[in-house]
Amino acid sequence: MVASPIPICITLGTRPEAIKLAPVIQAFQRSPLFEPYIVLTGQHREMVDQVMALFDLRADRDLAIMQPKQTLTEITCRALQGLEQLYQELLPRLVLVQGDTTTAFAATLAAFYQQIPVGHVEAGLRTDDLYNPYPEEANRRLISQLAQLHFAPTEQAVKNLQAAGVTGSIHLTGNTVIDALFQVADRQPVCHVPGLDWQQYRVLLATVHRRENWGAPLEDIANGFLKILNTIPDTALLLPLHRNPTVREPLKAYLEHHPRVFLTEPLDYPALVAAIKGSTLLLTDSGGLQEEAPSLGKPVLVLRETTERPEAVTAGTAKLVGTFADTIAAAAIELLTDAVAYNRMATAINPFGDGHASDRILEIVTQFFAQQTQ
Ligand code: UD1
Repeated sequence: MVASPIPICITLGTRPEAIKLAPVIQAFQRSPLFEPYIVLTGQHREMVDQVMALFDLRADRDLAIMQPKQTLTEITCRALQGLEQLYQELLPRLVLVQGDTTTAFAATLAAFYQQIPVGHVEAGLRTDDLYNPYPEEANRRLISQLAQLHFAPTEQAVKNLQAAGVTGSIHLTGNTVIDALFQVADRQPVCHVPGLDWQQYRVLLATVHRRENWGAPLEDIANGFLKILNTIPDTALLLPLHRNPTVREPLKAYLEHHPRVFLTEPLDYPALVAAIKGSTLLLTDSGGLQEEAPSLGKPVLVLRETTERPEAVTAGTAKLVGTFADTIAAAAIELLTDAVAYNRMATAINPFGDGHASDRILEIVTQFFAQQTQ
């Protein structure tokens, strides 16, 4: 008798989760052993829809919870209630979540309440500072305590999970973002920004969105950008703005009048990959960009006080520069004027993966179920 495929739910809500889970979903779709359901909480709308289309994925269920200026409590409550019903209906034997968003935490809790095992993709990242990043550091610690399968991207993440005394099994897989990146980079993407001539300028690609940077740090970061532009005349700043009005409005107010600042809507993923390739340097508080940029040979200045990706700093591909205008400007100006310092960062080896993390995750989950039937 042929066994029927095992239902699993792959649950996601924000853009980085969609990018990092897309190759995992594709791997499970290729396997005859599984029936993977794609479940969106809808924490993000446009930004996730773009990624789904890019990887040719269609959601099986969508809770569509996004509201303007949503609070963490609202996201958690709406996702938890909606997912309870969905898991009762779809009866998954495993729920896969990714990273440290509120969606990932709520999905883990909803699965735990129904005693469904959870597999955590990108497990084991830590800053060891509960409020930095906020609320992500807490989300990932809580997910680690409830998950059964921990897919760690690096050796350091494995050690962090061992130190946390998690239950279940820990597996070193690499980060799935590299799988997604290679897939998209192969398609030779382009990034067209009206008025920006990529040959004329050294382009600084910047992104800022983190909650702990809202308010005064955001203004300081914007001032740091202006200092760089005003010191080095052949630079231009490309800043795709996050959809969140709390971050986009102040950045616009500070930067939109500078002739060498190019503010855009969030770039779709191929354009973002092309922008990384075309840029000289990245300034960002994003986690994913710290992983992607080294694969394309670009140094990253991290606009945060802490990082859960110390591997990038140790490998020499990223530098933590915080949020003070002068420190940001000094670090960028050094790299833009000192070729030796620049090349040292640009040629360091990417510690985050080889592009085969998703296949490893599929294999581990297959073994997990094979052991249950023995
Ligand atoms: C969330 C994650 C963060 C992740 C980031 C990636 C949490 C707590 N935070 O932060 O870890 O790095 O996503 O972007 O889960 N909005 C839209 N359209 C969209 C997306 C967002 O209009 O497609 C607006 C909404 O008004 C929303 C606001 O942006 O209220 C903020 O979104 P939210 O998910 O609350 O937080 P992020 O800062 O995006």
